[in-house]
Amino acid sequence: SELNEVDKPFSGLKALVTAGPTYEAIDPVRFIGNHSSGKMGYAVAKRLRDLGATVTLASGPSHEIVPEGVDLIKVRSAADMLAACQDHFQSSHIVVMSAAVADYTPSEYADQKIKKKEDLFSLPLKRTTDILATLGQQKTDQQTLVGFALETNDELANAKGKLARKNLDFIVLNSMKDAGAGFSTDTNHITIIERDGQEHRYELKSKDEVASDICVHILAHRHSL
Ligand code: CTP
Ligand code: CA
Repeated sequence: SELNEVDKPFSGLKALVTAGPTYEAIDPVRFIGNHSSGKMGYAVAKRLRDLGATVTLASGPSHEIVPEGVDLIKVRSAADMLAACQDHFQSSHIVVMSAAVADYTPSEYADQKIKKKEDLFSLPLKRTTDILATLGQQKTDQQTLVGFALETNDELANAKGKLARKNLDFIVLNSMKDAGAGFSTDTNHITIIERDGQEHRYELKSKDEVASDICVHILAHRHSL
């Protein structure tokens, strides 16, 4: 079930995609980040564009090339990412949240560089807003909301919990168990889980092919509305 780019099945639809890591500032020279490359989100943005959607990409720091015609919003922190998503959510028909958003951020930003002192140092962190869960609460029945789940254990149960808790239409479970899948690779091993519990397990594939598979499910969801 490949989609035909010539048919532009997503024409007239607006899509919001998030990608990349977030950087949470500690002081003027340091941050807390993660190893997300942004590749998955950029591939989804490109595929949605090829299929005719008008695409906005909210991206944390990434070296990926921005697909031509995609509207890029550069963000750094989880708070920036939330603001960008809030600006575009209501007007979007399709929302795909592939960013690796920090769960915690320093509870206070230090205006001056923190100097080293004791051997043991700890930094207080506070929870960030769960952007996807926030959008899930605001979602109308004309929107398609897709989340990701990155798991190392109890994969299916954890992903199903996120699908229900965040009110998603489907979730893309990223298996980190096998070599060649995950953050800085060009391939991913995914399972798509739908609201009715249906599971679609895919082979290890390029992120471009994974993006295609995700778009097939998005189109099926649009047809079910
Ligand atoms: N997500 C988000 N905002 C956050 C944290 C996560 O929007 N502050 C989104 C991610 O973009 C992803 C989904 O939630 O689509 C799942 O992210 P993941 O880290 O797997 O799950 P969490 O709910 O953060 O749970 P945990 O990290 O504890 O497993
Ligand atoms: Ca998380």
